Amino acid sequence: MTTSASSSAKTIAIANQKGGVGKTTTSINLAASLAKKRKKVLIVDSDPQGNASSGVGVKTRNLEKHLYHAYTGGDIDLSDICQKTSFTNLEILPSNIDLVAAEIELIDVPSRESRLKNILSSFTDKYDYIIIDCPPSLGLLTINALTASDSVLIPMQCEYFAMEGLAQLINTIRSVKKSFNKTLFIEGLLLTMFDSRNNLTHQVSDELKKHFSKQLFKTAIPRNVRLSECPSHGKTIFDYDPKSTGGEAYSKLANEFLKNQR
Ligand SMILES: Nc1ncnc2c1ncn2[C@@H]1O[C@H](COP(=O)(O)OP(=O)(O)OP(=O)(O)O)[C@@H](O)[C@H]1O
Ligand SMILES: [Mg+2]
Repeated sequence: MTTSASSSAKTIAIANQKGGVGKTTTSINLAASLAKKRKKVLIVDSDPQGNASSGVGVKTRNLEKHLYHAYTGGDIDLSDICQKTSFTNLEILPSNIDLVAAEIELIDVPSRESRLKNILSSFTDKYDYIIIDCPPSLGLLTINALTASDSVLIPMQCEYFAMEGLAQLINTIRSVKKSFNKTLFIEGLLLTMFDSRNNLTHQVSDELKKHFSKQLFKTAIPRNVRLSECPSHGKTIFDYDPKSTGGEAYSKLANEFLKNQR
């Protein structure tokens, strides 16, 4: 059953400039879990790798229209670009490698940091949540995502350089807040690929608890092979293996996320 959005969407950037920390896995499966709970959700694939798009079954090579066209075109109707997924209540604004060019073409454009905010502005009443999957960089695409968002969710893998990366990201969030988006806040830090048998996991998570206790999600996402398998089938974990530890964890994360919204 589909539902209609009640008011303006809350927009959340899933960001961390470190590569491979679970941004896309979190974007897809948090979005799907919210959609399962009858929220209308749009994933914005703001990464030229197009992983969020292919992860929900979009063939990125054959795309006629994608986020690049919204970034660089004049009067583009977003409903021509957004696609339904096989998952009820879940839509995607897809991307592919062409999005690399948008970052270059935007360099001389005035208000280049607010382009995505403007693109999405006419669309926010269609959804309850818009989830933006960011690329692994702090370039213009991520700055646009942070400027367009109400909050930022930071997936973190418990590894040696995680804290250094977080410090850089927090500095970037501070500058975006100062210059473009005064009300931006940190939705939460999420531990991903959590492996309780690994000592480093405990060291990093203890450190995070010490410094960010209020912002750290209680739910951690365990390392789970089913989560790494499902993108190659173009399926969310809820289509692929909802009873897996990964599926249960993303469902729990959505509950915690929704509880925090009250
Ligand atoms: N909890 C998990 N358990 C096992 N594998 C995972 C888990 N989360 C993500 N992965 C796998 O780890 C890899 C990186 O995850 P993902 O693509 O979500 O990270 P990312 O931060 O979006 O990467 P990038 O920075 O390249 O965009 C992928 O192969 C993914 O399937
Ligand atoms: Mg990714």
